[in-house]
Amino acid sequence: MVVTTTQTGLPLFVLGQGRDPHSERGVECPGELPAASDPGLVARARAAKAALGDRLFVLGHHYQRDEVIQFADVTGDSFKLAREAAARPHAEYIVFCGVHFMAESADILTSDDQRVVLPDLAAGCSMADMATFDQVEECWEALEDAGIADDVVPITYMNSSADIKAFCGRNGGAVCTSSNARKALEWAFQRGRKVLFLPDQHLGRNTAVLEMDMGLDDCVVYNPHRPNGGLTAQQLADAKMILWRGHCSVHGRFTPECVDDVRQRIPGVNVLVHPECRHEVVTKADHVGSTEYIIRKLREAPAGSAWAIGTELNLVKRLAQEFPDKQITFLDRTVCYCSTMNRIDLPHLVWALESLAAGQVVNQITVDADTAHWAKVALDRMLALP
Ligand code: 13P
Ligand code: SF4
Repeated sequence: MVVTTTQTGLPLFVLGQGRDPHSERGVECPGELPAASDPGLVARARAAKAALGDRLFVLGHHYQRDEVIQFADVTGDSFKLAREAAARPHAEYIVFCGVHFMAESADILTSDDQRVVLPDLAAGCSMADMATFDQVEECWEALEDAGIADDVVPITYMNSSADIKAFCGRNGGAVCTSSNARKALEWAFQRGRKVLFLPDQHLGRNTAVLEMDMGLDDCVVYNPHRPNGGLTAQQLADAKMILWRGHCSVHGRFTPECVDDVRQRIPGVNVLVHPECRHEVVTKADHVGSTEYIIRKLREAPAGSAWAIGTELNLVKRLAQEFPDKQITFLDRTVCYCSTMNRIDLPHLVWALESLAAGQVVNQITVDADTAHWAKVALDRMLALP
């Protein structure tokens, strides 16, 4: 099955919509999906990997489950994984254990004869789905009508579909990740007086206000579900940052009360959060940064120090196991996994690897040539940032 991104403006993976009505998984797997209870899954994954040898490269995002991450040739945040994909020209198959927008970016950054595979097509991202191509075009028209489009540089977070990245490429903009949002904004403000930041309002606001000396009143939020984004021409004219009204449903769960609560429970605790968290949470935290930053910070922390981490739970649990000499706790009291990242489980990985080993390419992610060209322009601008 090949999945091609087109400029339909529709969310890519609406779970269960007519695809496989009898399965709670929502997405069918041609052939046999192994049972999760199969005790031979680890051995099967090892055997399929060994059979594929150097033809295969497995990328694993930090939010993946342990059962999957053990098979990753490299782990990383979105930025590192994009670079790793681009740096593997000899791998025939890139199996992406992450979510759809990451696999699309890998396809864009690799050559035409390399195949990128996403083990479960239901592994999308609710944040990426909050900005569709049609909505972004409509927004741009609103900026043109307000007479400011020429002043605006569009920057999209990596967590967006390929056609939104292509939109930014075509319109003089770039992609960023949580590791380089500040550099991307500095780049943008050398080229225009305003930025349209897609689709994560929190990363945009946190970077502008906490790292670039802008005020909250320099930011406005464009709501794609309201005429003109719910903004007046004056508000658009006054704003430096036009933030898309999107967010991460996982990081959006952390509240300022979570921070107060953990500080009471664990005196002296260091609160470390991802910049997809809300501004009120980030301003109460001690440190903020991407998943790679979070890992580095904990690696460098002295033994005996206490940390409360505001990011996805698979990563926090793994860090707590990796650094038993530090007290590492989850910032929220309730469980908070990314449900779409979790779609990639060992049965799907085994199914994908065994299919490849048998010569059948399944769940290939491809981006059409024109979209890929312009998305690559935007991605290359990011990769070239100092
Ligand atoms: P990073 O990998 O850039 O830290 O982003 C986290 C995330 O939410 C990925 O979907
Ligand atoms: Fe999307 Fe948030 Fe999940 Fe990342 S953690 S894939 S931004 S929903």
